[in-house]
Amino acid sequence: MAHYAVRESPPLRGEIPISTSKNAVLPIMCGALLTREDVRIEHPPDLTDVHTLRSLMEACGCRTHCEQDALILNASCLKNPQDEEDVRKMRASVLVLGPLLARLGEARIPLPGGCAIGQRPIDQHLKGMSALGARVAFDHGGVTLTGCLRGAVIYLDMPSVGATENLLMAATLAKGTTRIENAAKEPEIVDLAAFLSSMGAKIAGAGTSTITIEGVSELHGTSWQPIADRIEAGTMACACAITGGELLLRGARAEHLRSLLFKLSEAGVHIKDTPGGLMVFGRAKQPFEIRTMVYPGFPTDLQAPMMAVACKTPGTSVFLETIFENRFMHAAELARLGAHIRVENRVSVVEGTPYLTGAPVRATDLRAGAALILAGLCAEGETLVDDEAGHIDRGYCHIEDKLCAVGGNIVRL
Ligand code: UD1
Repeated sequence: MAHYAVRESPPLRGEIPISTSKNAVLPIMCGALLTREDVRIEHPPDLTDVHTLRSLMEACGCRTHCEQDALILNASCLKNPQDEEDVRKMRASVLVLGPLLARLGEARIPLPGGCAIGQRPIDQHLKGMSALGARVAFDHGGVTLTGCLRGAVIYLDMPSVGATENLLMAATLAKGTTRIENAAKEPEIVDLAAFLSSMGAKIAGAGTSTITIEGVSELHGTSWQPIADRIEAGTMACACAITGGELLLRGARAEHLRSLLFKLSEAGVHIKDTPGGLMVFGRAKQPFEIRTMVYPGFPTDLQAPMMAVACKTPGTSVFLETIFENRFMHAAELARLGAHIRVENRVSVVEGTPYLTGAPVRATDLRAGAALILAGLCAEGETLVDDEAGHIDRGYCHIEDKLCAVGGNIVRL
């Protein structure tokens, strides 16, 4: 639970260190369940999602401790978690399914319900596990998978990030060869595959739509530094596009953010790729059109931050959300600050306005919360962001400290 008071801020100037990627670390932590040996994850981000998953790892019999700036996991005594509440706390915990099944021959999790941004079913995860030979049984609101996994050809109906990761992990210990077709291509998948390969897995094609995995009998321990968080970096680039100024996003990688960088350039923001990270200069001056898509298309997770940019950018910007069915809830909150936004199903039309004024608003989900903080940076007076559910801390490491360090006017209450 957190509340933020944000005031209109001068152009942001300075350097923001980009944290290790949340969406890379979570599957990598689950991947640690695939071996009996120690897995060391360097610089894990200080996020509630990471802490929650760590407790779930412990409920799976995994020993965990921190050493310098690393998280060490050891799953030599792996078991299914007894208390389903541990799994239910976060969506990404569905990613324990593949490793538990691959190592124990049995896995049970409660079925995740819908969430604020959409229904988010796991049918593709289950379809893939079933193709690998698992029996799938539903009872009492949960799903139990049992069986000894054998390599298979799996076609995903849509390139789901989570399903690709879950199946990739399960297939590393399956007997024979698995091919995942229409796989997701996100950088976090490439990082997970590289991490698993460093444990002895045999994987080819990660980052393309066909991934081939040759099962091995066991995996060994490793030490891994996951990639920098492209969504945090993209959010901070949006902050710069809102206030103007000049930011160095230390550690951010341009090749993971091409779609956003093209859009910011179209809006008149200058970008420079340097060895230390991405430099972003100046304010957005022209409107833009965004269609969220799977990677390398525009990430749905940056749709809300870009909508905050559009609110004060002169002209008409258009957003089409194709990944999640209900991901415009921030539009109504941005409207409370004076933004002109019309939402029709999956389309939002934003008419840039020269003035936003501070108001109390509510963070409806993680990225929506970040978007409201960004909008508060360019709204006259005070914007009070109520994040009762603690969404922002799930995915942004100390967002107020990072923004304050470059001149943002924001206080956690
Ligand atoms: C991951 C990211 C999340 C990001 C999303 C899309 C993590 C921890 N989270 O979520 O930040 O917004 O990718 O880039 O990495 N779907 C099905 N059936 C399935 C699986 C997915 O219908 O079995 C649908 C979902 O409802 C959604 C779409 O496919 O509409 C994309 O979901 P998916 O790629 O699986 O997202 P996540 O892995 O949950």
